[in-house]
Amino acid sequence: MRRKLVIGNWKMNGSCAGNSALLAGIIAGLGKVGADCAVCAPAPFLAQCRAELTGTPVAWGGQDVSPKQNGAYTGEVAGCMLAEFGCRYVLVGHSERRAYHLESNELVAQKALAALASGLTPVVCVGETEAQRDAGQGVAVVTAQLGAVLAVLGADDVANIVVSYEPVWAIGTGKTATPQQAQDVHKILRAQLAQKNAEAAAGVQILYGGSMKPENAKELMAMPDIDGGLIGGAALKAVDFLAIIHAAE
Ligand code: PGA
Repeated sequence: MRRKLVIGNWKMNGSCAGNSALLAGIIAGLGKVGADCAVCAPAPFLAQCRAELTGTPVAWGGQDVSPKQNGAYTGEVAGCMLAEFGCRYVLVGHSERRAYHLESNELVAQKALAALASGLTPVVCVGETEAQRDAGQGVAVVTAQLGAVLAVLGADDVANIVVSYEPVWAIGTGKTATPQQAQDVHKILRAQLAQKNAEAAAGVQILYGGSMKPENAKELMAMPDIDGGLIGGAALKAVDFLAIIHAAE
């Protein structure tokens, strides 16, 4: 049985005081938790995450990583830096990075490799836009996105990644894929992982993201290939994030 994983993606939100209140609320309400959980915070707050989450069941991670190890790359954050601040995860290829920073499938693949090289678990985000889905290209788009990553990974690496299916039309819009729509894509993604490493694919956590909230989390995560959620808006309120974590157990 795969453990469920719920990750909060704070995006470009937060402040030292606000984060402290949010994290304290999450920790206070967590109790004995039967799922993996984490928050992906903006880089300047990772030291705060380390200070406030060490020793709790909540892991933390970054939202992006450079494909390079170090050097003259102003503004970039290296995997080894995230690791030094205790990150367990890092998002790669979030649709906002692909859309606003023109990240290609190949760049996302290099970022996944860089994350693995630093001992981080890359959360490889894939998802189609509404226009692509309407044109019947949804599956082709997400399999090309995951395929580019798998093309550069070794077979053994498959066990060390998380995949997150986030249909772009569902992110921050209040529109959610139905459990069956999401399951259909997750099943295809798992089959694609299995072509690289069948044994490892059975254990890879494949998250759903896109307007997941307390009201719909349980039915989404009840699907056989939906192993948790990547949560944006609802991760900024402790009660909502906690409700989703508890729905995952
Ligand atoms: P949302 O964002 O939950 O606000 O739709 C999800 C994401 O972008 O990771």
